Amino acid sequence: MTKPVIIALDFASAYEVNDFLQVFIEEPDLWIKVGMELFYGEGPQFITRLHRKGFHIFLDLKLYDIPHTVLQAMKQIGRLGVELTTVTGLGGQSMIEAAKSGLLTGAQESGQNVPKLLAITQLTSITEKIMHETLHNDQETLVESVTHLAQLAAAGGADGVISSAWESQAIHEATSSDFLTITPGIRLTNDKNDDQARVVSPDQAIKLGSNGIVVGRSITQATDPLKAYHQVKALFERGS
Ligand code: C5P
Repeated sequence: MTKPVIIALDFASAYEVNDFLQVFIEEPDLWIKVGMELFYGEGPQFITRLHRKGFHIFLDLKLYDIPHTVLQAMKQIGRLGVELTTVTGLGGQSMIEAAKSGLLTGAQESGQNVPKLLAITQLTSITEKIMHETLHNDQETLVESVTHLAQLAAAGGADGVISSAWESQAIHEATSSDFLTITPGIRLTNDKNDDQARVVSPDQAIKLGSNGIVVGRSITQATDPLKAYHQVKALFERGS
């Protein structure tokens, strides 16, 4: 997988997505992320339609449940033709193993490629202070927590994690250089941070060792989304 710029399609309906994607028709190898809002609104059939149109799809549903339930859900996801998908890393190693096994079975049964499995570490909206308050424990730094979850995910057979690019290097050192760190929380210099806390620019992200960036509002809410996409891509690819 070359290092992708993945556009987060955080829209409510297929109508809005189709309208947004019109200006991207000529773009080769476009990566898109479908999250909970769109998936719950339009369902798995919409994913199949996007797959048939040739998009590279990251289905980000952050599964978190007991291993058996996650295995069964991942079988369904394995049938959709997506290339990346997520579980919540806090579900533990056996849940991650179950997720991987479900994806393998679903993909094999339907003749699809097996989607890469990514575990969410600490959300990019979380600061160390919020993490300490949430866990009611201040013994661990945020980077320690993220790298620990990454090691657990690697041991469970995940292909990588979602983290901030700030943690990419530490994750690669704690796991391996080919363990993926896909990084949201990306903003261009003049953009608002919104609800994101651990924010990085596209050129910083590549220098910090990110294997791919997820960009939502900096592209989707831009006055000229295609221009913003090209700007992000150029910064990420050349690192300056
Ligand atoms: O608009 P923005 O660029 O902040 O969107 C980031 C996208 O990445 C959202 O779709 C969000 O759900 C997702 N994401 C994230 N942090 C994570 C995991 C996923 O921001 N840790």
